[in-house]
Amino acid sequence: MRRRLAAGNWKMNGTAAALTELKALAGAFPSASVDVLICPPATLLHRAAEVAGDTGITVGGQDCHAATSGAHTGDISADMLADAGASAVILGHSERRTDHAEQNEDVRAKARAAMDAGLTTIICVGESLEQREAANTLDIIGGQMSGSIPDQSTGENLIVAYEPIWAIGTGKVPTLDEIGEVHDFIRSRLERRFGEGVGRSVRLLYGGSVKPSNAADIFGVSNVDGALVGGASLKAQDFSGIIDALERV
Ligand code: PGA
Repeated sequence: MRRRLAAGNWKMNGTAAALTELKALAGAFPSASVDVLICPPATLLHRAAEVAGDTGITVGGQDCHAATSGAHTGDISADMLADAGASAVILGHSERRTDHAEQNEDVRAKARAAMDAGLTTIICVGESLEQREAANTLDIIGGQMSGSIPDQSTGENLIVAYEPIWAIGTGKVPTLDEIGEVHDFIRSRLERRFGEGVGRSVRLLYGGSVKPSNAADIFGVSNVDGALVGGASLKAQDFSGIIDALERV
């Protein structure tokens, strides 16, 4: 059985005041059936880990460097994230791929470092609108998966997030059939590469304009094990609505 997961990606949002939202969320816990992860900016990670304490909420980073240490001004290693209290890291988000020209092989190197540091690694894949309109979605996702996901992946250290670029922060969401098609494809690719046991144990998240109002429908789609949530994870009330929907699946 794959445990369902609601993961919040705060992106470059939040100073210390934002921790009140995490406190409010922590007040509503524990959840017996759903894992909850918050990925705040790196500056808040340590304090967020303290606020989360033993509530069952875990915290994670939004990126890491592929090296464990060294002359890389401004970068943060996977070991440093773990040291600050992270148990997970998001890698290969489309905003990283666009803003920092990250390629699949960069994501794979970072993922190896994260897994070596004991972090659960959420690897993001997703197509642009042009790619979808050209009917290239599955080719793009397949290429991103084989390029970005390391061989050492298991059901414990890997999570794959399907995030269509055109759905992120836009309020646009693919149809349930479109989400199902991609998630089934990701599942079959994982089974083919890692074998049925591992392939079936990797959790698959959908991300892109998930809100309390559309969460229940999305969570009803096959092979959707939870969500990676941006905007709606910034307010405890919104994120709780998504967690509630996931608990009711
Ligand atoms: P969104 O972002 O929920 O604000 O669309 C999702 C993401 O980028 O992970």
